[in-house]
Amino acid sequence: MAFIEMQEVGYTYKEGEEPPVTALKNIDLEVEQGEMIAIIGPNGSGKSTLAKLFNGLFQPTTGRVTIGGLDTSNQDKIWEIRQQVGMVFQNPDNQLIATMVEEEVAFGPENLGLPPAAIRARVEEALQMVGLDEFRQAAPHHLSGGQKQRVAIAGIFAMRPDCIVFDEPTAMLDPMGRKEVMATIQKLRSEGKTIIYITHFMEEVVDCDRVIILQEGEKILEGTPQEAFQARDLIKNADLELPEVPYLVYRLREAGLQLPPNILTPESLVDKLCLLN
Ligand SMILES: Nc1ncnc2c1ncn2[C@@H]1O[C@H](COP(=O)(O)OP(=O)(O)OP(=O)(O)O)[C@@H](O)[C@H]1O
Ligand SMILES: [Mg+2]
Repeated sequence: MAFIEMQEVGYTYKEGEEPPVTALKNIDLEVEQGEMIAIIGPNGSGKSTLAKLFNGLFQPTTGRVTIGGLDTSNQDKIWEIRQQVGMVFQNPDNQLIATMVEEEVAFGPENLGLPPAAIRARVEEALQMVGLDEFRQAAPHHLSGGQKQRVAIAGIFAMRPDCIVFDEPTAMLDPMGRKEVMATIQKLRSEGKTIIYITHFMEEVVDCDRVIILQEGEKILEGTPQEAFQARDLIKNADLELPEVPYLVYRLREAGLQLPPNILTPESLVDKLCLLN
């Protein structure tokens, strides 16, 4: 059994007098421990709804979600499930509440009921992990967007989840902050964490193990980044844009250059172009 399994999952919002909105339809998905999966899709395609199904924040309207073999609809296990899967959202300001960085990171371990020495050790470890140990006494609102997002990540890391779901964590950041956060996520990945990475920046998925593309609540593609980038018509129809290098390769091939289609990085494009001479 895979670490995360979704079987024929659907989700419909039914609120008050409003007509129901079906945000997800018929989603099958398996995620193995240690994998990094990217989920991309245009606005309103169901990404954030899917994110909330990964840790039982939402229950599927149809189908079944299991995390580490535990069904998320099992209310007796919900605490255990939430401990296994942490979530980082788009806006760091909405996630930070403490007046000092180390207090912020300590919230999670405190809620786990750990003794003070263990809490201190976890806070220290988490701040080192995100490269903010020198900012432990800083006020979060004085930090840059990228640093704030790293504080949020440290807070989740300190609870030692197996998996972290990131819902567009770089969308509100400048290029510098975006780089810092991406580097931190790669570090989490190298430590063996399972990563679910939601984004609408196609260039951010180049390094993922697997890409899922959502459109109008349905999974329209699942494959490696290379496979995803080669599905150009599908990407265009879904209102997404190819990253620069795959787009350039696509145009060069269209113009008649004999390049392989699966080039993702500037380095390998340069290598392949030089070989043509
Ligand atoms: N609370 C809600 N009540 C009713 N409909 C909702 C609610 N939240 C989301 N939806 C609808 O569900 C669909 C999927 O929304 P969702 O937020 O999951 O998409 P998304 O891919 O995360 O979009 P974005 O790129 O804008 O973040 C959309 O049609 C949206 O309008
Ligand atoms: Mg969203």
